Parts: sequence; C-alpha cells; structure tokens
Amino acid sequence: MSLAIYDDVWDLDLAVCPCDQHFLDWIAARDLRGARIFHFGTGNHHLVGIRSAEDGRGNAVLGITASPREHESYVRLVIERPEIGRRYKVLFGDIYQLEPRLLPELDVATLFHLGEFWSEKNAAYGAMTDRELALSLLEKLVPGGWLLFYTGSFAYDRAAAIADRLEAEGRLLPAGNFATLRLCRKPG
Ligand SMILES: C[S@@+](CC[C@H](N)C(=O)[O-])C[C@H]1O[C@@H](n2cnc3c(N)ncnc32)[C@H](O)[C@@H]1O
Repeated sequence: MSLAIYDDVWDLDLAVCPCDQHFLDWIAARDLRGARIFHFGTGNHHLVGIRSAEDGRGNAVLGITASPREHESYVRLVIERPEIGRRYKVLFGDIYQLEPRLLPELDVATLFHLGEFWSEKNAAYGAMTDRELALSLLEKLVPGGWLLFYTGSFAYDRAAAIADRLEAEGRLLPAGNFATLRLCRKPG
C-alpha cells in the first residue's frame, strides 16, 4: 500500500479553477495582515504563497501538496527566491494524514479541495476522512478564525454537506460568500 499522491501537476488555470486567485482577492479586500494561513493544494504555480510573500501584508502561508513534482517546484522556488521561502512553507504529504499536534495555531484555513481527493486508498492506511480533516483544522483555528470552501469545486456537494453540518452543530458560523468562496468562522 503506497501513499495516495497527486500524480500530476496543476498549472494555473483561472478559467477552470479560480479559487486561489479569489482567495488572494479576499485577502486584499479585507486587507488581512499578519495572518497564519493553512492552504490545501498549492498547485504548481504556488500563487497563494508567492503573492502573499510579495504583497507586504506579512501573512505567512503553510501549504500542502500531495504532488511530488509540485513539491520539487517549491524547492526550486525557494532556492532561487529565498525572500519567498521566508513566509511560504510547503509540506509534501497526504493532507488526510496531517498530525494536528504538529500544526501551529491558524487564523485562516482553506479547504478548497475538500472531498475531491479522498478515496479508499487513503482509508487503507488509516488516514482521516474529509469531516475529520475539517474538524482537525477547525481545532487549530483561533476563535474568530476563518475556514474557507470553494463553491466551484467538482466535489462541492460533499464539502457543502460537511460545512452545513458543522454550522448546524454550532462549530462554524456562516460568514457569507466572496466570489466563488464560501466563508465560515469559528465562533469566538
Ligand atoms: C487541482 S489542483 C489545484 C491547485 C490550486 N489550489 C488551484 O486551484 O490552482 C489540486 C491540488 O491539491 C493537492 N492535493 C490533492 N490531493 C491531496 C492530498 N491528499 N493531500 C494534499 N494535497 C493534495 C494537489 O497536490 C494540488 O496541489
């Protein structure tokens, strides 16, 4: 049994998947500063990490990718541009194997691809489910912290069911929408 990797590379395609750009637009619209951001799915473009390191707002991004080649492009990026690597870190691994004890406190977590990649392959080595992943990240959020979903995801029905239930349980508060993003906050 091997790790459920993303055996592909995702280059930026705003027509198909604008979530990362919309996230950056939301950061700019709120003028979010000094935030600790966890980002599910860096892509090969590393847009969220690069722009966040460049925009002067002092946000720090911890991304995760399950694509070996996307992780390699991150390694090259920070070797060539160490100023980006200061505030942009990328883990390689299966997000469903995150170890919450090793995660920092977070102000924002993106779950744009929740429901897209989990399969029995993850379950075979005891990885978390989508709901368990959402709960783990919620636990790391500060009160008032943000959990963001992508309504354009092909698996949004699954992600929405998880978000709806968390809201119904009072673990999340609805906070509206921004472009294609569904915004939720941890009660605080
Ligand atoms: C379709 S790409 C989207 C990338 C970027 N967010 C965008 O919208 O342009 C999906 C991303 O999710 C990551 N991914 C897929 N399965 C994953 C998993 N199990 N754990 C961590 N990352 C995963 C891939 O490595 C890839 O970076």
